[in-house]
Amino acid sequence: MNKQNGARNKIIVLVIVTAIIALLHYLTPTEPHAYHMLHIALRKFYFLPPVMAAAWFGFRGACATAFVVSILVILYAFLDWPGNYMEQANQMGELAGFWVVGMISGRLFDRQKSLLVNLAEANEETIIGLVSALDLREHNTGMHSQRVREYTELIADRLGVGGKTKREIGFGALLHDVGKIAVPDQILLKPGKLTDQEWDEMRKHPDAGYRIVKRIGFLKDAAEIVYAHHEKFDGSGYPRGLKGPSIPPGARMFMVADVYDALTSERPYHSPMTYDEAAAEIRRMSGSHFDPTVVDIFMTIAPEQLTKIARRHQNSGQADILTV
Ligand SMILES: [Fe+2]
Repeated sequence: MNKQNGARNKIIVLVIVTAIIALLHYLTPTEPHAYHMLHIALRKFYFLPPVMAAAWFGFRGACATAFVVSILVILYAFLDWPGNYMEQANQMGELAGFWVVGMISGRLFDRQKSLLVNLAEANEETIIGLVSALDLREHNTGMHSQRVREYTELIADRLGVGGKTKREIGFGALLHDVGKIAVPDQILLKPGKLTDQEWDEMRKHPDAGYRIVKRIGFLKDAAEIVYAHHEKFDGSGYPRGLKGPSIPPGARMFMVADVYDALTSERPYHSPMTYDEAAAEIRRMSGSHFDPTVVDIFMTIAPEQLTKIARRHQNSGQADILTV
């Protein structure tokens, strides 16, 4: 459910709740006495829509709903109690209460939302700081993971993945190599070829990353991507040798994004490939390295869009290198 549909559904629920309260209030007779008591009790439920609107739409939503409730209450007070100024004053007093409760709740919910946004931003900045430090250690630049995150999110967008899931996939892409913190410098930064033993050490980084990330509550799904970020579509990857659809979808999206970035980034021993060269290489590995569906979707993304991301997160230091 996207944001727009979510808001529309909430408005529909608000309208239904308000209509039910108004109908019950208008239609419950004031005679005999027992019905009148019920009628007065029902009127109190007009508190509900402004508070619901405050929770969903904040202060402005609460005011708009309190305004609708006001029309309903005022209309009733003047239709049903003509000339009875005491009763009308009593109902206007209740009405003022609906406004006060709605407005206070709206302000509090707005404040809570803004605190949550600040908290999410602080979490994200902390993660970006950590990842940039790790990128800097390995690549002498701090931008690789941020580019890969945005490429992966772009692919997710094209595949119709949005909201929380897309955000989690983005975090998975951002944190993919966090486990390299456990790889010793002499292996990670070794200029020449790695020995079999060193490769064994290096291949532990998805598992190490998974164990780090899964401990953070809001990153549990991202941890699955970290764990599977070196799995290949034909089952020849590591650490578990997962194949095809058993690889988490986010990891399949990440694989294409990561290799595209590696191919198009400056490397010490090779100039960056052009978009066409990199696209041809990715197509060549479709079905073996990559999920063909993800490759097909990736090819629908305009090269300019990818270039824009690369420019935004351009390496400022030394050359980037192909990731392991
Ligand atoms: Fe990796």
